[in-house]
Amino acid sequence: MSTVSDALDALTDLQPDRARITADILHGLSQHPRQLPSKYFYDARGSQLFEQITRQPEYYPTRTELQLLQQVCADIARAVGPHLHVVELGSGSGRKTGLLLHALTDPVAYTPIEISRAALLDSVARLAEALPEIEMLPVCADFTRPVALPEPQREPARRLLFFPGSTLGNFAHDDAVALLDAMRQTMGPTGLALIGIDLHKDPALIEAAYNDAAGVTAAFTLNLLRRLNREIGSDFDLDGFEHRARYSVPRLRIETELVSRCAQRVQVAGRAFDFADGEAMTVEYSHKYTDASFGALIAEAGLRVRMQWNAEAPAFGLRLLERA
Ligand code: AVJ
Repeated sequence: MSTVSDALDALTDLQPDRARITADILHGLSQHPRQLPSKYFYDARGSQLFEQITRQPEYYPTRTELQLLQQVCADIARAVGPHLHVVELGSGSGRKTGLLLHALTDPVAYTPIEISRAALLDSVARLAEALPEIEMLPVCADFTRPVALPEPQREPARRLLFFPGSTLGNFAHDDAVALLDAMRQTMGPTGLALIGIDLHKDPALIEAAYNDAAGVTAAFTLNLLRRLNREIGSDFDLDGFEHRARYSVPRLRIETELVSRCAQRVQVAGRAFDFADGEAMTVEYSHKYTDASFGALIAEAGLRVRMQWNAEAPAFGLRLLERA
């Protein structure tokens, strides 16, 4: 029996600090074209705006994946076996987690790794209450950096890495391979990974999902600049940039940009950056996959598909991965 306060006591806190964020932003602003890392979308307000995106009629991935998980979680539980240490990358609100943890046979422990401390504490408190028999070992961290995982009190049969939401799609090719490679190492020889991936489909449907009519996605994108102004003292003019998201068919990805509405100068940590009118900064990729593109990607990281489940129209996939 484990309580909410046990879960909060177990927190490992490695939330990125101001120096880390500043270094990442200065690096991104010095690239051509300029780019800002999408992981910094998720401050408390950004995590809330993302939750709001998932409720927009155009944004199909979250509800499609939730339904698919509901349909196949008994299958998944059989495929992965009992007594797991479940480790989730970028756990967010933990809605999908609840479904999975309820379906599994006697899971030993759950470790959410989440960059937003506010979102993490919120979801862990809820999960700890609903599932008191599972040891909660939360980690607040950027999951792309090496983290020593907490060891459960009971010996788990194996680790299951849970990486839903097509978050993998936010990584450029080389970064995705590096992350999958690190996941393979974290899994250990007998571990498994369950990944949610958004699948290629009609570009109009995909573009609509990243340009909702209510403007929530645009507010989510612009919130990045607000966050940076607050946390690293930059002076981005929120009215000076606009959200743009377009699907590239050859690259199989949404490319989200912040476009400068005029010629302007921005100060970040004592350095000046000049933007031309119409200059675009890349802020996020959301890759969509075909069986061929996904198979090739994971093969580069020494992984292969053990089982798979798809939702149809809109297409979305869950993949159970093992060491190749
Ligand atoms: C973080 C992968 C779940 O890329 O679809 C939603 C983030 N960005 N709308 C995605 C996002 C704009 C989302 N995931």
